[in-house]
Amino acid sequence: MDISFAAPDLPASGALVLFADTEGGLGGSLRAAADEATGGAVTRAIEAAEFKGKAGSSIVLHGPGAGLSRIVVVGLGEATKLTPRGVEEAAGTAVAHLPRDATATIAADGLDPAHTAHAAMGAALRAWRFDRYRTTQSAEEKPRLEAVRVLTSDADAAEAAWTPLAAIRDGVFLARELVTEPPNVLNPATMAERCRAALTPLGVEVEVMGPAELRELGFGALLAVAMGSANEARMVVMRWNGGSQSGGSQASGPVAFIGKGVTFDSGGISIKPAAGMEDMKWDMAGAGAVVGAMAAIAGRRARADVVGIVGLVENMPSGTAQRPGDVVTTASGKTVEIINTDAEGRMVLADVLHYCADRFKPRLMVDLATLTGAMIVALGHEHGGMFASDDTLAMHLTEAGAETGEKLWRLPLGEAYDKQLKSDIADMKHVTGRPGSASTAACFLQRFSHGLPWAHLDVAGMVWSGKDAPCIPKGATAYGVRLLDRLVAAHHEG
Ligand code: BES
Ligand code: MN
Ligand code: ZN
Repeated sequence: MDISFAAPDLPASGALVLFADTEGGLGGSLRAAADEATGGAVTRAIEAAEFKGKAGSSIVLHGPGAGLSRIVVVGLGEATKLTPRGVEEAAGTAVAHLPRDATATIAADGLDPAHTAHAAMGAALRAWRFDRYRTTQSAEEKPRLEAVRVLTSDADAAEAAWTPLAAIRDGVFLARELVTEPPNVLNPATMAERCRAALTPLGVEVEVMGPAELRELGFGALLAVAMGSANEARMVVMRWNGGSQSGGSQASGPVAFIGKGVTFDSGGISIKPAAGMEDMKWDMAGAGAVVGAMAAIAGRRARADVVGIVGLVENMPSGTAQRPGDVVTTASGKTVEIINTDAEGRMVLADVLHYCADRFKPRLMVDLATLTGAMIVALGHEHGGMFASDDTLAMHLTEAGAETGEKLWRLPLGEAYDKQLKSDIADMKHVTGRPGSASTAACFLQRFSHGLPWAHLDVAGMVWSGKDAPCIPKGATAYGVRLLDRLVAAHHEG
């Protein structure tokens, strides 16, 4: 979808979006212009619908006259409480009412340039679609918003505010695509190639390692998970050197993001029930978020050194699959007794966390993983679960989550959980009983974090949405992309 900014001028065709706050303001000059051109239809509709400008509310005028196909009036709530996020959601809500218009105009001249750019962002995020595998639908059945013109009294300033947001949008779209692709198309090798193709042009250094290199590195845990699949494992190391390049300090090492990339999780020999197993194509969404965040960070040329590493495997049952009872040696040298082959994500992350800490000496590590069903039971689809070894990092992540709408809730680590990982045969086992099992999983990961400031985000409930949200069409949410980008922007640049 093409986004442009232009001076306020009532369009002669297409759909028009108007904003309104609870006092009837923020509509800009186009509110009066549209009302006049339609013989008062806007005011009449607002009164008849008892539209009060509340956040989340909207009214639609079909064929209002003046050549327009529709006018959508969308509420921003109280003007004094306006936030970038609120503007995005209003614009996204408006776009949902424009399914078959090829072009739309958003009247934002009642907003400042920063909020105007966020109106464009909300529209773009909601208009995203994934139609690659629909071959029989006509153009009308694949509704596309081709172009959005955002009207503003300061197009240059709005454009400047939009530039970094466009990079973040690209990162979100990349993550949504990766997560949506079916698992016969997206396997470890093809996902690695997509990372390379998307990120290299942005100036990210991309290294892809296959089974031979991973064996060399001693990745016994990650490779044990991959053993059952005909699709070989990969690890992708992505480096954006925007801090050192711009002369900034890198004395304390890069920021590191790590993602669980299980391109399909059947459970392995501890196989999952059939119902809902198709959802396990999105068991790579932690990795997808890391790749999307790297695209956002590099795309807006962030002044920070950031490393992203994703461990990519497919977890399948077969004659070559790992078994419950196996003992594997991780890259750190620590041995692990396999209890349940469906607890594969933590095995992948164990090797990648160790490797990342050892090679890059990062200032902090954040891993994202669709790690446990328990997290969905605990937090539903409202918050990602956060387990952190460091209070400052936890605070920064919580704030970034609140600002981006990718919310987090902190849950406990600690000795009482950690000690449950004791094994009768190896240094540890990787699974405990059900009580507190998201915390014991996090404690398992912490053992591979080298004592660095580290946070584990269990995002199992957040990466796929069963229903539309204002800025997220049903499906892949790209949860984590904006969160990680914001963490870097707010605390690790300059
Ligand atoms: N990928 C799953 C977690 C998951 C389940 C995410 C359902 C989203 C929806 C993970 O690999 C897994 O299977 N976890 C097990 C761990 C158990 C075997 C200790 C779980 O949560 O049941
Ligand atoms: Mn599993
Ligand atoms: Zn999994």
